[in-house]
Amino acid sequence: MSGVIVPLGLRPALERISAEIDRHFDLLLEVPADARADLFGAMRHAAMGGGKRLRPLLVCAACDLFNVQREAALRVATAIECIHVYSLIHDDLPCMDDDDLRRGKPTVHKAFDEATAVLAGDALHALAFELLADEATHADPFVRVELVAELARASGPAGMAGGQMMDLAAETESFDLPTITRLQQLKTGALIGFCLEAGAIMGRIPPEGRTPLRGYARDIGLAFQIADDLLDVAGDSDAMGKANGKDAAAGKATFVSLLGQERARLQAELLVDQAIAHLATFGAEAELLRSIARFVVERDR
Ligand code: IPE
Ligand code: IPE
Ligand code: MG
Ligand code: MG
Ligand code: MG
Repeated sequence: MSGVIVPLGLRPALERISAEIDRHFDLLLEVPADARADLFGAMRHAAMGGGKRLRPLLVCAACDLFNVQREAALRVATAIECIHVYSLIHDDLPCMDDDDLRRGKPTVHKAFDEATAVLAGDALHALAFELLADEATHADPFVRVELVAELARASGPAGMAGGQMMDLAAETESFDLPTITRLQQLKTGALIGFCLEAGAIMGRIPPEGRTPLRGYARDIGLAFQIADDLLDVAGDSDAMGKANGKDAAAGKATFVSLLGQERARLQAELLVDQAIAHLATFGAEAELLRSIARFVVERDR
């Protein structure tokens, strides 16, 4: 990640998680010698060797707060990355954002074809839940069921898929700021929220003890999507590994179209300060989460 402002301590954490997630996908997605080879090839193309791995890092940073074993945390981290990658494959399809470039590579429907891209997304979606439901993730079935239920909620109509539907509507309807905020919370915030919630679930923290992490997640989730919208307007497409200028071209209402770049950036920075303030009850063990919060708005990709 050369040239990016990355807080001290965050860079090795990002490098470590990237290698770990690649290793997990490599083991999970061994290409079979039958007619499914392209499906696995497409899943590997999308899931391996790219992306910031921000969600897996959040899962592991949250799990670290509660001394969860790394290999178990990594299974949850891989599951959320499966959902994220599936959402990207489908987001890039011609029927949605119609993008040719993702993570510096051709999108899956370009490298393969549309049907394979749909199926690769479907298969990654299923794989996420298979990973969580497995005993290796946690010995207690109640913990596994809570993870499955939370990820389902965060991915479905009350989460990412619902947010994507609202996002499509934002091309033709003139949404106000509260509606855009809700759209972003569903589209991006829900999956980010899962990452922190999962740490608490794995750490057996009861719901009433999860308030600081939920506040942190809500604020960085929103800041993260504002940063994505700012990059779409003013970012460097080469660094981002995806096309920019897409939202304006589609006439899409975003934080940036409503507030303008300067106020949107201020809002994102305010949210990051607020996110860090939610962690006040934690000490040095939450330093990685604090660094991630800053990275969310300082990133250039
Ligand atoms: C992009 O997410 C899609 C949004 C939810 C805005 P990321 O910016 O985390 O994409 P990768 O994983 O680094 O490619
Ligand atoms: C996509 O949002 C969010 C999800 C895939 C859930 P965007 O359409 O803004 O993401 P990019 O900019 O293509 O990465
Ligand atoms: Mg989109
Ligand atoms: Mg898109
Ligand atoms: Mg975008």
